[in-house]
Amino acid sequence: MTTGEVDVRPTSARDWEVYRAVRQAMLLDAPDAFLQTFAATVSYGEDTWRSQAAGGPEVQSWLAWRGDLPVGAITALTRDGAPRLVAAWVAGHARGTGVIERLVETAITWAAARGFTTIVLGVSARNPRAVAAYERLGFVDTGERTSHPQMKDCEIHMARAIESTKVNSA
Ligand SMILES: CC(C)(COP(=O)(O)OP(=O)(O)OC[C@H]1O[C@@H](n2cnc3c(N)ncnc32)[C@H](O)[C@@H]1OP(=O)(O)O)[C@@H](O)C(=O)NCCC(=O)NCCS
Repeated sequence: MTTGEVDVRPTSARDWEVYRAVRQAMLLDAPDAFLQTFAATVSYGEDTWRSQAAGGPEVQSWLAWRGDLPVGAITALTRDGAPRLVAAWVAGHARGTGVIERLVETAITWAAARGFTTIVLGVSARNPRAVAAYERLGFVDTGERTSHPQMKDCEIHMARAIESTKVNSA
């Protein structure tokens, strides 16, 4: 197990190669946990990876680092209103060491700074470890379900209230 200080940093276009490496590693590691498939990413060119790593006003990704080793990732999207956490992953050797807390709290801080008061996510009903981690982090099952063939089971919707830290300049 990898332990020690974790540094969570937002990705930018110049991180595209490490971002690609982590994204593809997570899709190979846990293919049933994500809606994206490894096969779909194989044909992505540099521009696509640069754009995904860069994010934008409505999307931001972070990588968790222990020294020079990326040990986790998460993305937050605000395209559909309430911010959504997607693509959360912790490397197998770093699980159970607090990396997911650091990633989720970083994404929540980002959402709170944009004035949002709720954050949501979807998790496969066949992923009890992820559900348990999210419950520990304050997410509750909303009762909503969505079917996704890629997940081989339904997606459980979870939500957590957050305190907005946005300061209105008006
Ligand atoms: C989901 C994930 C990010 C969670 O990070 P993690 O470091 O493994 O999480 P933690 O170990 O801190 O917490 C997991 C919890 O599940 C529990 N757990 C472990 N295996 C379990 C299992 N098979 N069934 C139920 N609970 C389980 C752990 O004991 C822990 O419970 P606790 O909070 O009471 O201690 C990580 O496991 C991962 O990357 N999984 C593969 C990708 C994935 O599933 N991503 C989520 C997509 S929504």
